[in-house]
Amino acid sequence: KYEKIWMASGVGTLLVFLIVLGIGAFYQGTQPPSCMVTLDPQNVQAHEAFKEENLGLQQLGEKEYTLNVLATAFNYDFGKDEDGNNVKTIRIPAGSKVMFQATTEDVIHGFQLAGTNVNMMLEPGYISTLETTLDNPGTYTLICNEYCGTGHHLMTATVEVY
Ligand code: CUA
Repeated sequence: KYEKIWMASGVGTLLVFLIVLGIGAFYQGTQPPSCMVTLDPQNVQAHEAFKEENLGLQQLGEKEYTLNVLATAFNYDFGKDEDGNNVKTIRIPAGSKVMFQATTEDVIHGFQLAGTNVNMMLEPGYISTLETTLDNPGTYTLICNEYCGTGHHLMTATVEVY
């Protein structure tokens, strides 16, 4: 008889846990890396295609952007500017809805925009995506929060919300 009570409370706890997790994931935007697109890790062409698909910031509409990023040890690649220099700082108007799409060419990297809810794990073969609205102006640092080698601590970039 007591076993039944324990069973019920066990299942109940599990349900509560799942519900909390669900609310966290869907309403608060604290998502684990959501892998919408799969790239074959062996398929270099898939990565080339992602790169050619315009790395960096693209404007989709009024205050609507996509940011495509390719991570490699120990760099975030936002593509090049008109002068052919590597873009290191991304500038986005405050209040913009931004779809982050990022992947890695080599090992697992992190993708955390400190001070925002943007936090993803980048895995080879997957494009991690996350959409958020950047409301507060400021200078945010994009950091790698997965240990990826000797230059791990140098792996940063800057996002300016103005
Ligand atoms: Cu990339 Cu740590």
